Amino acid sequence: MAASDNKVYRASTTAPVNIAVVKYWGKRDPKLNLPTNSSLSVTLSQSDLRTLTTASCSAAFPSSEGDSLVINGEPSDVSGARTQACFRALRSRRAALEAADPNLPKLSQLSLRLVSENNFPTAAGLASSAAGFAALVRAVADLYGLPDEPRELSRIARQGSGSACRSLFGGYVAWRAGSAADGSDSLAEQVAPAAHWPEMRALVLVVSAARKGVSSSSGMQQTVGTSGLFAERVAAVVPRHMDAMEAAIRDRDFAAFAEVTMRDSNSFHATCADTYPPIFYMNDVSRAAIRAVEAINANAGRTVAAYTFDAGPNAVVYYLEQDTEAVIGTFYHVLGDMDGWKAPVIQGLKPSMTLDAGV
Ligand code: ADP
Ligand code: DP6
Ligand code: CO
Repeated sequence: MAASDNKVYRASTTAPVNIAVVKYWGKRDPKLNLPTNSSLSVTLSQSDLRTLTTASCSAAFPSSEGDSLVINGEPSDVSGARTQACFRALRSRRAALEAADPNLPKLSQLSLRLVSENNFPTAAGLASSAAGFAALVRAVADLYGLPDEPRELSRIARQGSGSACRSLFGGYVAWRAGSAADGSDSLAEQVAPAAHWPEMRALVLVVSAARKGVSSSSGMQQTVGTSGLFAERVAAVVPRHMDAMEAAIRDRDFAAFAEVTMRDSNSFHATCADTYPPIFYMNDVSRAAIRAVEAINANAGRTVAAYTFDAGPNAVVYYLEQDTEAVIGTFYHVLGDMDGWKAPVIQGLKPSMTLDAGV
């Protein structure tokens, strides 16, 4: 059936950010967006940090307009190979459904209009590409009525942005690097649901909302090409961290979880500093946050907090609900000014507060 009825087909979905505790950094195949190493993240499912995307199509939309994407009110280029790969994969799945059932409207032949809102800073190291591409893929999959499992969608989202494959699952999520040349085994899977460790909390410290100087895509390829440390990270450090992290999650061992999280963040930023010319994502406030976490742990006499930084200056601090006082209290002490703090959120895995240090 031709979709000639001028009906507007529409689907909306939200996707949360995820913050890696073992970082993805490096592509072994930039075209298929295949990583050099496996990674593991926590999805901030109940946080305030999410993308809302609406996908629509209609025979009434002029076919000359082509596919379009608006992010936070600004037109965004969809001609890039990565966005195109997502659209192509989704359309071919819809086309297969249409071929099997002639009564289905031929939505695969219509241009797509996507409108997306991030309610947190875009391209600032808070995983906007993860929530963004996860929402994009799921919105179009819903629009097309695709029966695919999150696992299949993660394979598609991975082509848009690697970290996006992990945002299709809640809880603790591993992206297995895989070894197939066509990327068929490079996808995300849930290691444990959020309910496995319900006390886990994430504090998001917004140091700067500014767009980063070097995108993740570009930064990681500069690292792959020029860092001597990088080979060691891929061959030895990450495999060790993946094993230790999966055991820590399984055993709900926060001290082990925290040590691996902090070591892996440090290792990743060390390879950035070892890139030539060097890339610096952290700034003085980021480093103050590291010192604050060290002070919190020293004062407590045990490990109660773990910092991690993506490709940006903003800190994410993981801690357990029962240690809220020690963690939040010290941040207040060290970084002062409470004006920028948002109201605490109590249940589930939420950023309990966001501090805008105004830097
Ligand atoms: P971040 O640290 O925020 O993930 P990246 O450099 O990895 O930063 O990616 C930023 C890019 O992700 C943006 O330039 C844009 O292309 C893409 N992106 C961000 N938000 C969305 C969205 N809502 N929908 C689609 N793509 C998005
Ligand atoms: C530091 O997934 O944003 O956040 O695949 O090129 O879009 P592309 O990169 P992206 O890289 C994320 C890097 C990281 C670590 C992580 O999320 O694992
Ligand atoms: Co990103």
